[in-house]
Amino acid sequence: MKIVLVEGDITEQRVDAIVNAANSSLMGGGGVDGAIHRRGGPEILEECRALRASRYGRGLPTGQAVATTAGRLPARWVIHTVGPVYSRSEDRSHLLASCYRESLVVADALGVGTVAFPAISTGIYRWPVEDAARIAITAVRRAAPAVVEEVRFVLFNTAAYAVFDSALRDIG
Ligand code: APR
Repeated sequence: MKIVLVEGDITEQRVDAIVNAANSSLMGGGGVDGAIHRRGGPEILEECRALRASRYGRGLPTGQAVATTAGRLPARWVIHTVGPVYSRSEDRSHLLASCYRESLVVADALGVGTVAFPAISTGIYRWPVEDAARIAITAVRRAAPAVVEEVRFVLFNTAAYAVFDSALRDIG
């Protein structure tokens, strides 16, 4: 499995699946979530509503992942995952790692070859990018998915790209 870094907009990525930094409601929000729903169209929200009416009546728990259509986006699937909100007093690293691991489990089950991740939890959920990058890359390496051939981290700005680039060089 290859890890690739890209600076850009995750909604424009021509990959099989893109991962959404969602919230437990699955009803959309700002940031990545807002961009995906806005550009992907209502089909995504319709499938999210169906998930809330069935498997996820109480919402998608933090650290878990579930797939829907990608609607009008270039990707085929959106894999929604809920990152942890950063906390100084509580170590929630395992939940952030779980987002990457569980998203790759879903991607393998869908049989996709390329998956794009945003920097989960580093926006509205305030996780420091350096720490999030280390957790993300380590989690992806450890997951070692059977089917996924390329994991692409899509960083929204140059600063985030530089942080992930440094973390990838350190971890390998
Ligand atoms: N493409 C790639 N990366 C993006 C994009 C985009 N279109 N838009 C934002 N980002 C980056 C942000 O700069 C940040 O680094 O994605 C990272 C995650 O930021 P958020 O989208 O704010 O996600 P998160 O911090 O996980 O917070 C999730 O925000 O949008 C709501 O509904 C969502 O409640 C949930 C919370």
